[in-house]
Amino acid sequence: MDLRDRKILLGITGGVAAYKACDLARRLQDQGAQVQPILTHGALHFVTPIMLQALTGRPAYVELWDERLDQAMGHIMLSRDAHALLVAPATAHFIAKLAQGLCDDLLSSVALARQRESCRLLVAPAMNVEMWEHPATQRNVRTLEADGAVILGPAAGDQACGEVGSGRLLEPLEIVEEVIAAFQPKCLQGRRVLVTAGPTFEPIDPVRGITNRSSGKMGYAIARAAREAGAEVTLVSGPTRLPTPRGVRRLDVTTAREMQDAVMAHAASADVFVAVAAVADWRAEQPSPAKLKKSTPAEAVTLRFVPNPDILAAVAALPSPPFCVGFAAETERLVEQARAKLAAKRLPLIVANRAEDAIGADDSELILVDERSSVTLPRADKLEQARRIVAEIAARLPAFNR
Ligand code: CTP
Repeated sequence: MDLRDRKILLGITGGVAAYKACDLARRLQDQGAQVQPILTHGALHFVTPIMLQALTGRPAYVELWDERLDQAMGHIMLSRDAHALLVAPATAHFIAKLAQGLCDDLLSSVALARQRESCRLLVAPAMNVEMWEHPATQRNVRTLEADGAVILGPAAGDQACGEVGSGRLLEPLEIVEEVIAAFQPKCLQGRRVLVTAGPTFEPIDPVRGITNRSSGKMGYAIARAAREAGAEVTLVSGPTRLPTPRGVRRLDVTTAREMQDAVMAHAASADVFVAVAAVADWRAEQPSPAKLKKSTPAEAVTLRFVPNPDILAAVAALPSPPFCVGFAAETERLVEQARAKLAAKRLPLIVANRAEDAIGADDSELILVDERSSVTLPRADKLEQARRIVAEIAARLPAFNR
């Protein structure tokens, strides 16, 4: 319920993607938001006020001069207690109006009359690829961004008109993820954050290997939370089934050595490195190039292991390392063992958790351990914990000397 108690004005303009706004209204409410729909006349060609009213439980307004709105001042009243105006879909024409400050209908008047600090403007464009790429539209979008609006998407792909390219409305759940991100404090704005996540897979032969039960959820949550906080995020991921958080650059790897190569290529330019991956400590010395057959006598099947590189220790040992954060999954004496790893790998911060919580669970209790102190982060879901860790990293960054 990341949008609990948030009041969101959902502006719908006249494009075929308006049908997705109906689902979007529901998905925003799933996160606890109160949704107030406002439609342009163009939107009425695609969706109806009754449908939006049924979906949100609030009358959908269209007219600037609506007798139901107090003192005939709908454009003022509607926005005063709203936390965001989300225009989805936003047509090329409506974006042009916003950029110019035109206000000839209710929605554009609300956009101009809202208090910009307390009611953010979020715009999700949807239009034909040529309209999106037209210099006039691009100019208008830059103007909106300079005025403080957040542009969500658009996505590229098949378009309703039959053409292919940029200009598709983001999917409702992607828009919801962006709206949630817009409300998070931008404590890592302008920072580069590198994250490892998931297990590694060390081959024994072409079909078999050694891995572990790490789901990758915590690492993906850290990547998402860092991006929400304004950072440019690179996520180096072992094999997982998780979707990439929006706006995060993901590099897929399989083995520990591949993970190390990907990390080392980005570590020097990162401000922060968070090692969440459950990296295999050993790998088979010589994976068989051919599949090992069942008919091979058991005594002939011997696996010799060699240690894998310690990626986190290697990054922390760089001449000018980023702020390095480790994770320590322990079954006993959490703080003591975490602090030993902190010292061994020369880290400013390590996050200790119980091994049974660390693997696959959706929530966990964490302990932040540094040289001197340990702070418990009470049990919460992994995204909430990730936001707390990101805030802690951001608070420590200014005092960190590379
Ligand atoms: N790590 C790493 N590369 C490795 C091993 C671990 O980057 N080859 C990172 C993990 O991502 C995590 C931290 O180091 O941030 C875990 O430290 P480690 O001492 O390796 O923990 P365990 O493998 O759990 O060690 P032990 O079995 O001794 O508890």
